[in-house]
Amino acid sequence: MLQNASAKRVYVETYGCQMNVSDGELMEGILAARGYTIVENPEEADVVLVNTCAIREHAERRVLGRVSQLNGLKRENPDLVIGVTGCMAQRMGDDLLEKAPFVDLVMGPDSYRSLPQAIRGLDDKPQERKQLAVLAFHSEENYKGLEQRRSEGPSAWLPIQRGCNHRCTFCIVPYVRGPEKNRGPRDIVEEVRGLVKDGVSELTLLGQTVNSYSSEGIDFPDLLREVARVHGIRRVRFTSPHPIDVTPRLVEVMAAEDAVCEQLHLPAQSGNNRTLRRMLRRYTVEQLLEKIEMVRDAIPDIALSTDIIVAFPGETEDEFQDTLELMHTVRFDDAFTYKYSLREGTPATRLPEEDFIPPDEAQARLEQLIDVSRRIQAEINQDEVGRIEEVLIEKCGRHKGQVLGRTRRNKVVVFDGDPTLIGEYRRIQLERTTGATFIGAERLGSVGAVGV
Ligand code: 5AD
Repeated sequence: MLQNASAKRVYVETYGCQMNVSDGELMEGILAARGYTIVENPEEADVVLVNTCAIREHAERRVLGRVSQLNGLKRENPDLVIGVTGCMAQRMGDDLLEKAPFVDLVMGPDSYRSLPQAIRGLDDKPQERKQLAVLAFHSEENYKGLEQRRSEGPSAWLPIQRGCNHRCTFCIVPYVRGPEKNRGPRDIVEEVRGLVKDGVSELTLLGQTVNSYSSEGIDFPDLLREVARVHGIRRVRFTSPHPIDVTPRLVEVMAAEDAVCEQLHLPAQSGNNRTLRRMLRRYTVEQLLEKIEMVRDAIPDIALSTDIIVAFPGETEDEFQDTLELMHTVRFDDAFTYKYSLREGTPATRLPEEDFIPPDEAQARLEQLIDVSRRIQAEINQDEVGRIEEVLIEKCGRHKGQVLGRTRRNKVVVFDGDPTLIGEYRRIQLERTTGATFIGAERLGSVGAVGV
């Protein structure tokens, strides 16, 4: 193994989406393969990498705060290397180096393969060190041949696609992650087999618009079927699909393959056609509802979740009400709700200034939406009390003596149990709900025979 005398311990701190979490594991994998030791806190590290998100301003502000905090460590340990990676690093680039002169390295999501060289290239002597920006896009980079460093356990994130070919007018992702790049299907299936050998039985396939996947004549439904049939894989999820690629074939595979979980995250963004058009989402509310009907016809028990943006520039009060109506019509099991956040460089920033919605109005819409979606969620979950479900236990609960896991439908359940249960599947009866999560109790019997 190669050793770098001056920088051996690295700490990676990740913000943002699952793809970023997976990228954090990739960076750790790349560095571990070069002899770095991965440490669990920044105080122990020679190199700290903050792996960032650019999706909303709030996410970036948080990171900037954190990066200046880490600068405190640099005062104690002047040799410390601070790197900022990920989407915000890509977006801000040299600006970030200027704003935060104590940052040594910024690196975008296409350049992680060169992370060890970049770190090695930084001068050991802090006073001689020059800041480095590695921001080129590599249209072929899908990290073939490199291994993520995953934590042990039965669940794994598996990126199958990077980048995005859509141009939703609010979204920064295509500008910081570049165009869509898909991994070869053989590589993916091979990796799944390896993961099974390492004890993985639950997989989440990742991509910015995961169901637009296509490579070597294999499309997403084909790939999903292949992955679901790998011996040892018990649960498969995928995120995030674009509604436009929710096709009859995809739904057929989801319904037919036992391992594919009864869960779908389907970002709607808005319930109004004019807003959807201006967002460049490429579907109407009616088409979205048709897709949902198709999914529910094939998989009646499916749990649906969504993403919604309120106060997109120019959204009228009536148009916002259409979004609330969509929530009542569909009754999503869960909703991730956001206020529109202006992202420099995206098409929506060019909308007329008077279209931008004042913050207090945006906040009021968000609160109404959260209220509606929480109420619906609580009603749905209340109706599910009494069911017996298969739960995969993920970690300790907040209270001592409790563990927490998820059902196939991605509902969170807490129940009495000890940490030795982590990684196991158990039959749990849902006894109560707080609205969002369940409190359950173990029922004896084989998990293979779970029924409702
Ligand atoms: N402002 C607010 N929310 C956004 N999202 C993406 N871009 C923005 C933005 N500029 C939301 C979308 C997306 C989720 C990951 O983040 O709902 O589905």
